Amino acid sequence: MQEAIARLPKVELHLHIEGSLEPELMFELAARNGVILPWDSVEAVRRAYAFSDLQSFLDVYYAGASVLVTEQDFHDLTWAYLQRCRSDKVRHTEIFFDPQTHTDRGIAFDTVISGITRALDAGRDQLGISSQLILCFLRHLSADAAMATLEQALPWKDRIVAVGLDSSEKGHPPEKFQHVFDRARGEGFLTVAHAGEEGPADYIRQALDLLEVRRIDHGVRCVEDPELVTRLVAEQVPLTVCPLSNVKLCVFERLEDHNLKQLLDAGVCVTINSDDPSYFGGYIGENFAASAEALDLSIDDLERLARNAVNAAFLETERRDDLLIEIDQWRERCESGCA
Ligand code: HPA
Ligand code: ZN
Repeated sequence: MQEAIARLPKVELHLHIEGSLEPELMFELAARNGVILPWDSVEAVRRAYAFSDLQSFLDVYYAGASVLVTEQDFHDLTWAYLQRCRSDKVRHTEIFFDPQTHTDRGIAFDTVISGITRALDAGRDQLGISSQLILCFLRHLSADAAMATLEQALPWKDRIVAVGLDSSEKGHPPEKFQHVFDRARGEGFLTVAHAGEEGPADYIRQALDLLEVRRIDHGVRCVEDPELVTRLVAEQVPLTVCPLSNVKLCVFERLEDHNLKQLLDAGVCVTINSDDPSYFGGYIGENFAASAEALDLSIDDLERLARNAVNAAFLETERRDDLLIEIDQWRERCESGCA
C-alpha cells in the first residue's frame, strides 16, 4: 500500500506556500535578512507547533512568514516546496499565497509574486510539474483591504487563476466578501474559499451561493447539514480536505475519527491535500499514507481520490487527460502486482 501511494500520480489543490516554510529555511532567511524570530533554535520552533485551534496556528504562521523579504526568498520557498512535490510524485499543484501577510509589512506585491512565479516556471521546465496560483484574501481583515489587494493583482491576472479566502474563519463569513468576489469574477478570476473547517456548514452554503466558488477548501463540517451533503454530491462540488491539518488544529481528535472516508463513500468529490505541511507534520504523500492507514483506504479509494483531484483542478483538457492516463497506468501496475 505504501509503495502504491508513493507511485500514485498526485494533484495538490490546497497548499499555502507560506505554510511550506520549514524551520531550517526560516532560520536561514532570518539570518540572511536580519530578522529576529521569537524562537532561538529550529527545535524551539518545532516545539511551538502544538496548536489548540486555527488561531493558535495562525499566530505562529504569521510570525514565521516575517522572514520572507526579497524576491529570492519567495523563489527559494517555492522551489523547496517543488522539490518535495517531485519526491511525492505531485504532477500538478495549485498554490495559495497570502499577499496581505507581506504587503502589510511593506513588501511589494510584485516582489512576492515575481519570486513565486519564477520558481513555478522552473518547476514546469525542469521538473515537469504544472501549477496554478490562487490569491487568498485574509478574512480577518476588511473587505476594503481585500478589494485593494485585488486591484494590486490585476496586472498579474494572467498568472493568477483564482481568488480564495483564508485565515480566521469564525466571525468572518463569506458574505463579508461578496462584493469583492463579484468584482473578482467580473475580472475573470475563478473563486474558491475556505469554509466549514472551524466555521459552520452555513458558511459552505454562503461560499457556494454568494461567492460562486468552484471548490470548497476543507468543508468537512458539511456533514452537520445532510441536505448540503446531498447538494455537494449532486453538483460534484470538490472539497479540498487536509487530514493531518484537521488533526493538528483539533477539528478531529484523531485521524481515525476523520470523515474523509465517510464523505468519499457518500459520493462527495473529496481530495487529499497538505494545507501547511511544514506546520502540520506532513506533505501530501504523508497525508495519503496516514489517511490510508487510519481509515483503511483501499486501492479503489486511492484511485478515486486521485481522479477527483484531477477533475477538480483548474486544468486545460489536454493536461487533464494526460494526468488521467497516468492514473490509469498506475492502476494497471497495481493490478499486475508490482505496485
Ligand atoms: N485555514 C485558514 N487559514 C489558513 C490555513 C487554514 O488551514 N492555513 C493557512 N491559512
Ligand atoms: Zn488552508
